Amino acid sequence: MQMKGMVAIVTGASRGLGKAIAIEYAREGAKVVACSRPQSPTGLSGTATETAAEIGSQGGEALGIPCDVTNEAQVKAMVDQVMERYGRIDVLVNNAGLMIVGEPFLDIEPERWDSLMSVNIRGPYLCCRHVLPVMMKQRRGSVINIGSRMGIEVTAGGGTAYSASKAALHMISHTLAEEMREHNIAVNILSPGSLRSEGAWVIPWNRRNWDIRIEPAENGPCAVYLALQTADSMTGQYVHIDNFGKTWGQVSSPR
Ligand SMILES: NC(=O)c1ccc[n+]([C@@H]2O[C@H](COP(=O)([O-])OP(=O)(O)OC[C@H]3O[C@@H](n4cnc5c(N)ncnc54)[C@H](OP(=O)(O)O)[C@@H]3O)[C@@H](O)[C@H]2O)c1
Repeated sequence: MQMKGMVAIVTGASRGLGKAIAIEYAREGAKVVACSRPQSPTGLSGTATETAAEIGSQGGEALGIPCDVTNEAQVKAMVDQVMERYGRIDVLVNNAGLMIVGEPFLDIEPERWDSLMSVNIRGPYLCCRHVLPVMMKQRRGSVINIGSRMGIEVTAGGGTAYSASKAALHMISHTLAEEMREHNIAVNILSPGSLRSEGAWVIPWNRRNWDIRIEPAENGPCAVYLALQTADSMTGQYVHIDNFGKTWGQVSSPR
C-alpha cells in the first residue's frame, strides 16, 4: 500500500492507460479521481464513472467525474469537487490524449489538428493551472505527464501533429519542473511504450506491430513510482517504461 492516504487525479481514465493507472493507484491505497469527457465522441467502451465503480467493487476508493480537460470551467469544477470531497491532491496524471499517427501531414484537417493540440497541450496546462495552487499550499505533489517517444524521435512514425504535441508537453514538463522545484512539486514525463489500448487499435497504422505492444497495465508500477516523487527526489525527467528498474526507479545494483 505505497499510496495509502494519497489523493490522485487521473485524466482520460475511462479506458486504456488512464484506467490501468487509476486501478493500480487504488490497489496501492490511493483515493482515485477518474476523469474523462462527459460524452465521448469515440464510440469506445467505458466512462470515468464506470472506472470508479469498478475500483469501488474491488474494495478501492474512487470518484468518477465527467470532465473535458480542454474546458476550463469543467476542469475548475472537477478540482473544486475533489477538494470538497478529499481536501487535498497529491498526484495529477495528465494522461488524456488524442492520437493522430501514421497520417501524412496534408491529410490532417485544421479542425483535427486543433483538437489534438487542445487535448494534448491545453488539457495538461488547464489541469496544472488548477491543481498546482493546491499542491503549492501543501508544499508537495507529483505531476506526471504522459509523453511519448514520438515526441523525441523523428523516425518513430508519429507524424507532425502528434509528435509536435508530445514534444511540446515534454518541454512544458521540463520548464514547469524548474518553476515548481522551490515548492517541492515533482513534474516528470512517463513514456509508456506502444500500448494495446482500444484507442490505439482504432488507428490502422498501429496494428502493424500489435504483437509487440504491451498491455497498459504494465505501466502501473512506473506510474506508482513517479507518484511517490517530489522535487527533492526526482523531477524534470523524461523516463521510458523500458528502462524502469534499469536506469530509473528502484535500480538494483549489479552483483
Ligand atoms: N497507445 C499508445 O501506444 C501510446 C503510446 C505512447 C503514449 N500514449 C499516450 O498515452 C495516453 C493514453 O493513451 P491510450 O492509448 O490509453 O488512449 P485511449 O485508449 O485513446 O484513451 C484516451 C483517454 O483520453 C480520454 N480523453 C480524450 N479526450 C479527452 C478530453 N478532452 N477530456 C478528458 N478526457 C479525454 C478518453 O476518454 P473519453 O473518450 O471517454 O473522453 C480516454 O479515456 C495518451 O496521452 C497517449 O498519447 C499512448
